[in-house]
Amino acid sequence: MNIGLLGFGVVGRGLYDLTAGREDMQVKKVVCLEDITLPDAQVTRDFQEVLQDPAIDTVVEAMGGLHPAYEFVRACLEAGKNVVTSNKALVATFYDELIPLAQEKGVCFRCTAAVGGGISWLSELERTRRTQAVTQVGGIMNGTCNYILDSMTRLGMDYGEALSQAQKLGYAEANPTTDVEGIDTWHKLILSSNIAFGVSLETEGIPVCGISKITAAHVADFKAHGLVCKLVSTGKCLDGKISAYVQPTLFAQGEPEAAVPANFNLITLVGTASERMSFYGQGAGRYPTAHNVIQDCADVLAGKGFYCPYGKKTAVHNDDQLRYYVSGVTDAWVQENTAEAWEHGVITRPVSVDAMHAWRKANPDAFIAAVNE
Ligand code: HSE
Repeated sequence: MNIGLLGFGVVGRGLYDLTAGREDMQVKKVVCLEDITLPDAQVTRDFQEVLQDPAIDTVVEAMGGLHPAYEFVRACLEAGKNVVTSNKALVATFYDELIPLAQEKGVCFRCTAAVGGGISWLSELERTRRTQAVTQVGGIMNGTCNYILDSMTRLGMDYGEALSQAQKLGYAEANPTTDVEGIDTWHKLILSSNIAFGVSLETEGIPVCGISKITAAHVADFKAHGLVCKLVSTGKCLDGKISAYVQPTLFAQGEPEAAVPANFNLITLVGTASERMSFYGQGAGRYPTAHNVIQDCADVLAGKGFYCPYGKKTAVHNDDQLRYYVSGVTDAWVQENTAEAWEHGVITRPVSVDAMHAWRKANPDAFIAAVNE
């Protein structure tokens, strides 16, 4: 396999390093805007040099972002090249378009590293659908947020310091707002739900709340009540009705999610035969993620494209009733729904996910976290 590599950041560099010396796959050309030289590959700023090179059969897209990644990936598929990508924003947004295009062109398209970094989550999610219906997916899907929350909880680190460490360690996106506001997890949930339930979710109805408003005082409240805060995605398909949302969630110490350290992810599916099955590993970082990209390249060599039945546009309905920790704005709505006061916030009585997120949208400085029950 001759690889054209688009992007030479955390994942691209990892792929280059891990394929060095392999006989079955080699990086031949790298498209990169920085002036670098590499011993084993030609470096160019011009994407056309990869697109027009008939010797390059497979393109690995590791640029991130929607544009020009989308235009490049589309052009590669149109030109009959296999594509492997770790870009969750790209795949979550253009899934319906890229999968049929790859099928039409008779090439392989794979994106396992788009969710869970080094974990074989998406490839296993696809496989599990051969034997059972999946009724639930979700969990901790963002290494940066987990690193921040874990550092604040266990090490007493300040939010800003923890985020800056996550950036230094190569966990965060180029724009870390995407991580801390939950958008990265939102993309990963959309992609996982589409694959798990065989649908194409209408994304506007999927609420998302990140962790950027969490403070040391909130963490102290959680500790005082034996709880640990994690950023969690939830996708459920029950009796044909789908719900999907992303939000900070409080787990009792002793629950598996509460113990997930550093940049690790813990992603779970519930299937009609397997019941609950979880996947755990490093959810971000150079070599774990690059390892998963190479797994996809090896599957392409074996002729295995991704996937997977995608489906019709489907709306989500989030009427699950949950209790929430709310801190920051104590207006009439919060007071009306308060069941219990803690030192720095309140616990609501059960309210619907949609109602809570609508309130949060109107009060963007507030911090909310669902109580896992
Ligand atoms: N920024 C992402 C994360 C990288 O922290 O999980 C892996 O998708």
